[in-house]
Amino acid sequence: MIINSARFAISNSTHRKSPSEMRHEYAFIGRSNVGKSSLINMLTGNAKLAKTSSTPGKTLLINHFLINDSWYIVDLPGYGFAQRGKEQREKLEKMIRGYILEREQMTNLFVLIDSRHEPMKIDLDFFDWLGENGIPFAIVFTKLDKLGNDAGRRNVQRYCSRLLETWEELPPIFLTSSEDKRGREELLDYIEQLNKLPVGPSE
Ligand code: GTP
Ligand code: MG
Repeated sequence: MIINSARFAISNSTHRKSPSEMRHEYAFIGRSNVGKSSLINMLTGNAKLAKTSSTPGKTLLINHFLINDSWYIVDLPGYGFAQRGKEQREKLEKMIRGYILEREQMTNLFVLIDSRHEPMKIDLDFFDWLGENGIPFAIVFTKLDKLGNDAGRRNVQRYCSRLLETWEELPPIFLTSSEDKRGREELLDYIEQLNKLPVGPSE
């Protein structure tokens, strides 16, 4: 898919204020600092679209970006950022969970995992929660440029084996780097396919 335009639409603290049109929308979630905003910039080819930072906890709102005047990318705050107080963390979690459970336009959720890390409980629990709630998701491994090709493949393999201990089958998996742009075509092609389906709940 070719990206002709990508522009910021709106930021909100609740999904209830998100755009009301029935357009396809794809949200990006994962632990703080995993590379969500960077990936969105890489996909859209605009390094300044979503705000990135080397300090975790940069994105704190539900941010909508309109792509090709027809569908949305949504940048969500990261989860599990311990340095914020309990109150703020709970507020963010409520915002994220409300969005994921109730946003009918969300065609797919992309869950980002840092390819350098071992499987972490917080992510595995999050996958379980998505499964329990029937949320369609794919896993995007990030920062593969930070590993050699073999090490990257090995880590992803190990991660998938761990998932298969509790999941019968794996969701779609993408290997990406916002630095060298790998995985961009695959992700955009996947979205292009999903864009052909009707928007909204399938039942
Ligand atoms: P929060 O909004 O704080 O939850 O973080 P985020 O998940 O949006 O992460 P962000 O995109 O802001 O990136 C965090 C840090 O990781 C930044 O310093 C990025 O430059 C770096 N980073 C993100 N993706 C990559 C990547 O693919 N390769 C490398 N080498 N660095 C990356
Ligand atoms: Mg961010």
